[in-house]
Amino acid sequence: VHAWRLLLIGFGTVGRGVATRLQAAREDLATHGVAVQIVGVADPAVGSIACPDGLEPGRLLELVHGGHDLTEYAGARPLEEPLAQLTELGVEVVFEMTPTDLRTGGVGLTHVRGALDAGCHVATTNKGPIALAYPELAALAARRGVQLKAEGTVLSGTPVLNLAENGLVGAGTRAFRGVLNGTCNFILCQMEEGCSYAEALIGAQELGYAEADPTGDVEGWDAAAKVSILANLVLGAGIVLEDVERRGIADLDAEQIRADAAAGTPWRLVGQARRAKTGWRAEVAPRRLAADDPLARARGATNGVVFETDALGEITIVGPGAGRDATGHALVADLVAIHRATRP
Ligand code: HSE
Repeated sequence: VHAWRLLLIGFGTVGRGVATRLQAAREDLATHGVAVQIVGVADPAVGSIACPDGLEPGRLLELVHGGHDLTEYAGARPLEEPLAQLTELGVEVVFEMTPTDLRTGGVGLTHVRGALDAGCHVATTNKGPIALAYPELAALAARRGVQLKAEGTVLSGTPVLNLAENGLVGAGTRAFRGVLNGTCNFILCQMEEGCSYAEALIGAQELGYAEADPTGDVEGWDAAAKVSILANLVLGAGIVLEDVERRGIADLDAEQIRADAAAGTPWRLVGQARRAKTGWRAEVAPRRLAADDPLARARGATNGVVFETDALGEITIVGPGAGRDATGHALVADLVAIHRATRP
């Protein structure tokens, strides 16, 4: 068993989800040769601390749930400059879980770049760095001989990238279409039941599905980021976020949504990419699904992706697209992938 030395950057919804999952999965991970030692946690809202001997996930959760600052953790010391202290703390893997910024990549991009450059493996749930700078970051990881994993950026912990990177290799994947945003899907399904758009959006925020700023969810930016991530990581399309044509759900008619759902042909915000005559065609737009479309099974914060392949025809994966523990699991799965890739 190898005890991986982890630094958690971000201890909001996702950080707490991963702490919960690391605790719950401890025995299961150990049977696969994986253990963890959290040597630091950095978060501007709840405090930044380090402890080279390891921090207990359960104690971290108790503190934040009790409304305390992490700096009250007995025996820990303040963590002043996380990126500058990676070597001193012996960090091997960085979990980057700060809020997504799809305009510049934000601090997440700085963290991912800095951690890779320092020779740490990185697993991130932050869509900004992966949607905006994947080629650069993947090249940096390759130069440093470390892994860069991003399962949680698409369909939270549902293993869609794992499926594409493993089982679908060689199957000739040509295209995909998917329900990729939990917030929009939750809102559409609530509206099918007669809820107003505004009420449904508040519900999505309370359940932790929406981004810190939900504008990007309802305007389709979040889904467009996921289309570009899937297009680049799975299809090798080499597109940028601006290449994804985009329409959100804000101007859909509530009456129409209810009537079409009742008729068995519900509206979903669908993201897709396929090869066209000239390059790639990638888009996000509300679509009315056929009654037998497998994506109709994606209800609420459940998302889904259909891959079109030469060898297998259509392969569909459906599962949680957002949520605290579901996204936390993505990092656990990424850690196992890092373990397998580097300690065979
Ligand atoms: N805000 C995102 C969603 C979270 O609603 O799908 C998961 O990426």
